[in-house]
Amino acid sequence: MRVLLLTHAFNSLSQRLFVELRQRGFELSVEFDINDETSIEAVALFRPDLIVAPFLKRAIPESIWANHVCLVVHPGIRGDRGPSALDWAILNGESSWGVTLLQANAEMDAGDIWASVEFPLRAASKASIYRHEVTEAAVSVVLDALECWRHGSVVPEPLDYSHPAVRGRLRPLLRQSDRRIDWQRDDTATVLRKIRSGDGVPGVLDRLCGRDCFLYDAHPAAGLSGAPGELLARSGPAVARATVDGSVWIGHLRERQGSHPFKLPAVQVLRQESAGLPEIAGYPEIEYRERSGVGYLRFAFYNGAMSSVQCERLLEAYRQACRGSARVIVLLGGPDFWSNGLHLNVIEAAASAADCSWENINAINDLAREIITSNRQITISALQGNAGAGGVFLARAADLVWARDGVILNPHYKDMGNLYGSEYWTYLLPGRVGEARAQRITQGRLPMGSLEARELGLVDACFGGSNEGFVAEVEREAERLAADPGLQRRLREKAQHRAEDERRKPLAAYRQAELERMQRNFYGFDPSYHVARYNFVYKVPKSRTPITIARHRDKRKLPE
Ligand code: COA
Repeated sequence: MRVLLLTHAFNSLSQRLFVELRQRGFELSVEFDINDETSIEAVALFRPDLIVAPFLKRAIPESIWANHVCLVVHPGIRGDRGPSALDWAILNGESSWGVTLLQANAEMDAGDIWASVEFPLRAASKASIYRHEVTEAAVSVVLDALECWRHGSVVPEPLDYSHPAVRGRLRPLLRQSDRRIDWQRDDTATVLRKIRSGDGVPGVLDRLCGRDCFLYDAHPAAGLSGAPGELLARSGPAVARATVDGSVWIGHLRERQGSHPFKLPAVQVLRQESAGLPEIAGYPEIEYRERSGVGYLRFAFYNGAMSSVQCERLLEAYRQACRGSARVIVLLGGPDFWSNGLHLNVIEAAASAADCSWENINAINDLAREIITSNRQITISALQGNAGAGGVFLARAADLVWARDGVILNPHYKDMGNLYGSEYWTYLLPGRVGEARAQRITQGRLPMGSLEARELGLVDACFGGSNEGFVAEVEREAERLAADPGLQRRLREKAQHRAEDERRKPLAAYRQAELERMQRNFYGFDPSYHVARYNFVYKVPKSRTPITIARHRDKRKLPE
């Protein structure tokens, strides 16, 4: 059965559906909904049995929906319509929300309903809800719908606002004026709701130190208060700003104008203004705790991006953890991402992007080397959230990699302007999956689910559908490992294995060879990496769908 994913972008939800459907043997292709002509052409080329639209920003052309069943994933409850579904739900403080699968017709979001699922709405950013609850719900309704379609047992329901189960309604685009913060009146809970409703996109427009900035990455700042609107302290990338009844950490800002109009750490945007603020702990970026012989190092870097400064802080925290009494160290990453490698935005803003890239890759490499060579502990990378590019190989630096079911990995660098990559991947990847698979993984440039990653040996175990369930099981297994009488033997074997590998080819040699290639990426004649990074950071819309996923455009793979 041929399924076309028609989508504005190959975002996390589209990637997850791609992985789930491919795993179930559907014949799949993807087209970016760039304009009517390309979408119509894609349908003509691929001749799908069914079209699934996980993430659209425009209506599907009539010539497509009138001739094919098109299922649209709407991130809202039954009856909810409009382009700001999740934004309104968070802003209005809904206690539960949902995902509805509807069949496209002439009216946007008003087609027949195939299925709908509800979930409790967590106090979290829009992007986090989208990556977890919305994604899980969307996968379940789409898989159910495809199964029903296969068996011819679908009974879609027309949208009927008189039905008691239809709680939603048509809502307009949420505007900046709807979520503007009034620092003289809004309490902490309101400020958090407003910022979270627009995080990751578009952010809440505010005036900060005389500049127009969009705010992101907000957390309650315990124990701090001051005159409403005043900046009180700094912590890691964040500044604390007073509300009427407390204060919030704001981790990231995007200047509306200026030379770097993209998301950056708040202390970088407000370099001068934040310089005099007291530096305190509190912004929840790097945290360490120990229990029952296990150390848990949590690093929740916004969007999974790791700048040199963040890598250095994490390396310091990791070294400190290694000096402690824990015999098992769990690298927990953050709830939304484990790591996405180099901090491309910070690099883009640097005076020399090449120098900043070089420093950043060396800082990640230092961290990777420390993990690879730590022989007093068994190390576990536990992925609650997705990982991409160097972030995947950094995870593989640990002895064990455990991933939450549903996590998506992008274990390749080439999409970033043919970046060669480092993080000792040339040592770590073939060592785990063999040369042939390593080639396939890095050249294929496809997202990979946790199941496939486990089958290939990139991941050692996957379990637990929710973050809470996953972390609870990680804790159980890690503590069991720490209490295992065989741990000492295991540590001796690990040290032996590392020493043998080192004799065969020193880690420094892998690093040097990788960095020679990276040096060409950063400083060489071919500007591809710099162009790709610019396009990524400035979110330049894609003009075509990559051939790796648009199978119908790959002349060697046209369907019969
Ligand atoms: N540096 C800075 N920001 C990053 C980032 C990075 N390495 N990786 C992701 N982000 C940001 C995105 O810009 C986006 O920002 P937004 O909040 O403004 O929307 C957000 O994180 C989510 O990323 P997005 O691309 O929308 O997520 P996705 O799930 O669709 O795709 C990846 C995941 C990993 C495939 C994709 O983010 C990616 O290619 N990242 C770059 C990885 C890379 O090349 N790193 C450098 C080499 S080590």
